[in-house]
Amino acid sequence: MKLLASLLFLFGLLTPTQALTADGAKLYAQNCAACHGEHGSGGIGVPLALPAFHALSSEDYLRKTIRHGRPGRVMPAFVALSNADVDAIVAHIGSWNPGPFASYPTTRIDGNADNGSKLFQKHCASCHGANGEGGKGTGVTLSRPREQAIVAPALHNAGFLASASDHRIKAILMKGVAGTPMQSFLKKGLEEKDIDDLVAFVRGFEKSPLAGNGAGQPAADPVIVVESPYDFKTTIDNLKRAAETNNFVFIREQALDEGIVKPGQENPRQHIVYVCNFGLLAQALNTDPRVGLFLPCRFTIIEQGGKVKMMASNPKRLSQIFNNSELDEMCDKLTKMYQTIMDDATL
Ligand code: HEC
Ligand code: HEC
Repeated sequence: MKLLASLLFLFGLLTPTQALTADGAKLYAQNCAACHGEHGSGGIGVPLALPAFHALSSEDYLRKTIRHGRPGRVMPAFVALSNADVDAIVAHIGSWNPGPFASYPTTRIDGNADNGSKLFQKHCASCHGANGEGGKGTGVTLSRPREQAIVAPALHNAGFLASASDHRIKAILMKGVAGTPMQSFLKKGLEEKDIDDLVAFVRGFEKSPLAGNGAGQPAADPVIVVESPYDFKTTIDNLKRAAETNNFVFIREQALDEGIVKPGQENPRQHIVYVCNFGLLAQALNTDPRVGLFLPCRFTIIEQGGKVKMMASNPKRLSQIFNNSELDEMCDKLTKMYQTIMDDATL
């Protein structure tokens, strides 16, 4: 029930709420503040209130970024907001700094992508990843090494590529984003021509498929079910042993309906077993604090019509809600572990 409540909360947090009139501040508070901070100073998401960010971003870039999101990363795609809502949010972001947003020509920049590729490995890969997959973790304050102030966004990302024009990418490389680790490469010694080559290389990411991305994949089964050849009690004993063999610690066992029915009236043939792998827990929380919602791991064991079944909600399915490819990998691993534990329990 706790998991369900948490998920509902999360949906409440992330689902765009329709407003009768487009009030930018309110819409921002409802849809963006949880990640980017109430005043745009950053959090799970990167800061949006920096003067440099304002000077480098066009309204078109902001509108498109809100619509497309960053599939496979944490930034959601806001498809349900009206155009007026999106405009109001952009205007609200604009109100944090004086002066207009940038405006860029939509023309392509010619460059030598092969040379750009070499420059990218030398100057960019350390932060943005060898394939532009972005830095690990999210935004400013969570799940990342403390020495790096802001996590480098994914450049090999359909949402980014569809939103940023060549000229915006060039401007960022020329000027850097003051107040973030992204520096001016003109100041770091590159020539304008090198920067054009880098832009051509980054644009080339469009030709290859998206970096690991749950979007578009068929939805995983919500629940993993394994039938047991043993009776109810033996199955539970086996499951606990299998969990321990697989480096999980047994936490507790309770009736499925404990706390829901009167004490003593619980169904004795429907139990939950809670287990935890603390190493994995630390690793998972480091990847994304929201995995706290899935934990501790629980198995439900039910005897019905003479058959005993073990069930677990599928972490892979849950992670698809979160739009974070790193978390997807983690949950994939967890799904396999659940499967192994339940299979071992049937041996
Ligand atoms: C669940 C967290 C989350 C929510 C909600 C969210 N964002 Fe983001 N946003 C992020 C993250 C994380 C990034 C960085 C992308 C990356 O790491 O690849 C980002 C990136 C962005 C960028 C690109 C920044 C840049 O440097 O160009 C903009 C613009 C943006 N978000 C605006 C918004 C707006 C406006 C809203 C509300 C309508 C919103 N975001 C809601 C997490 C979020
Ligand atoms: C020291 C780490 C670091 C290095 C090196 C670096 N970047 Fe960045 N980059 C960042 C960070 C952090 C941001 C996010 C800045 C912000 O919050 O606006 C960023 C932002 C960007 C953006 C804007 C992304 C968006 O979502 O709008 C582009 C494009 C970019 N970098 C390209 C490059 C290229 C190309 C190179 C190599 C020439 C490079 N960066 C080198 C850390 C780095």
